[in-house]
Amino acid sequence: MIDLRELAPDDAEALQRIYSPESIKFLGRGPMDAAEARFYAGNAVASAAQTPRTLYMLGLAVDGDLLGVVKLHLERPVATVSYILRADAWGRGYATEGLRRLLALAFGHLGLPALHAKHHPDNPASGRVLMKAGFAPTGSRYGFETYAQVQRWAAGAPAV
Ligand SMILES: CC(C)(COP(=O)(O)OP(=O)(O)OC[C@H]1O[C@@H](n2cnc3c(N)ncnc32)[C@H](O)[C@@H]1OP(=O)(O)O)[C@@H](O)C(=O)NCCC(=O)NCCS
Repeated sequence: MIDLRELAPDDAEALQRIYSPESIKFLGRGPMDAAEARFYAGNAVASAAQTPRTLYMLGLAVDGDLLGVVKLHLERPVATVSYILRADAWGRGYATEGLRRLLALAFGHLGLPALHAKHHPDNPASGRVLMKAGFAPTGSRYGFETYAQVQRWAAGAPAV
């Protein structure tokens, strides 16, 4: 149903719609303007060309419509995930499905041992997404609820 794909310069306009005032409310940043959207898309293209790659910024598309972005940050001691969906696409399971696809990349293809994630305490929908995708709460840090998930496929558990 959904596709994760590399972002392209042409995605800038769709990215700006994703990073709307409603969507960025708990992200500690401002809404995205056209210039930042172009920079963001360019950064995604550049990160895809890196060797070794330290950042995956993947577009989440449904029937060709770019509805969100999922990110995997590999430059940190423990890799982290994050995600954002266009506000009119919320509540349909897309973030959970997109995150599960990202986990398949992280734990499967990349073989990472563990992942971290966090969300603002006033953003429980994000915590629900993490729990549905197999993360466990680990407490709170710097005002954010924190989560972790360890690689379990090696032990024979089914893939998400
Ligand atoms: C958080 C976000 C990614 C969720 O995307 P989504 O596609 O709506 O998520 P899903 O549909 O996969 O799952 C949402 C879950 O949260 C639940 N939920 C929604 N609002 C909730 C609330 N206020 N309290 C508790 N749970 C809530 C839904 O019921 C659903 O759970 P369910 O399947 O058990 O019913 C989306 O709202 C978003 O992009 N927000 C802005 C960016 C953001 O906050 N990113 C996360 C940064 S940490």
